[in-house]
Amino acid sequence: MPLKIAVLVSGGGSNLQSIIDKIEAGVLDAEIRLVVSNKAGAFGLSRAEKHGIARQAILHTDYESREAFDLAMVEAIRAAGADTVIMAGFMRIITRGFLDAFPGRVINIHPALLPSFPGVHGQGDAADYGVRISGCTVHFVDEKMDHGPIIIQAAVPAYPDEGGDGLGPRILELEHRIFPQAIQWLAEGRLTIKGRQVLLADCGKPVAMLDAVALVNPPLEEGF
Ligand code: GRF
Repeated sequence: MPLKIAVLVSGGGSNLQSIIDKIEAGVLDAEIRLVVSNKAGAFGLSRAEKHGIARQAILHTDYESREAFDLAMVEAIRAAGADTVIMAGFMRIITRGFLDAFPGRVINIHPALLPSFPGVHGQGDAADYGVRISGCTVHFVDEKMDHGPIIIQAAVPAYPDEGGDGLGPRILELEHRIFPQAIQWLAEGRLTIKGRQVLLADCGKPVAMLDAVALVNPPLEEGF
């Protein structure tokens, strides 16, 4: 049975699109029961419409507390028959009440290698800091922002003076690959949370990475 997911967005929804594409390609065994946006004009809602997916704008500005807003989302998600929540560029912090409604079944993507550079400007903060490697992280959500146990991370090189605008697209390309992968692992029931560790059952060595034990940037020169 496909994983019944709700996808939360706040903006462009390119991560939502990557999930839709992998479902339509038959590699991701999930069914998007509902797309929720906390912003009325979010392009993510148009993407859902284009693919005939149920969608709903639930505006946080219509609620007097985070708890009330989260409760409205819980009701909509449950009514749609979803039991797993995918935060795909959703720019709100989730409360305990929301997490209790879907225990161990809320995941998020963040455009930096957590625990470095949490927050809303992950790409720009990493670029400004001058890191030489950055990337993205898919993790289970807990009450702290960008904090829960990590499922998968991917790294990309970062270059001086390119800023978040240069680094961001390189990270986003990888987000579109690791997020659907993490959801598929969830669908297959292969993820177990053990404290801060996430164990992946039957984890083989990825063929493309057999020789790449580390990403080093700038590249090492001969002899090292
Ligand atoms: C992504 O970089 C995501 O990691 C971050 O916000 C961006 C949203 O992109 N939280 P999109 O809406 O999926 O295109």
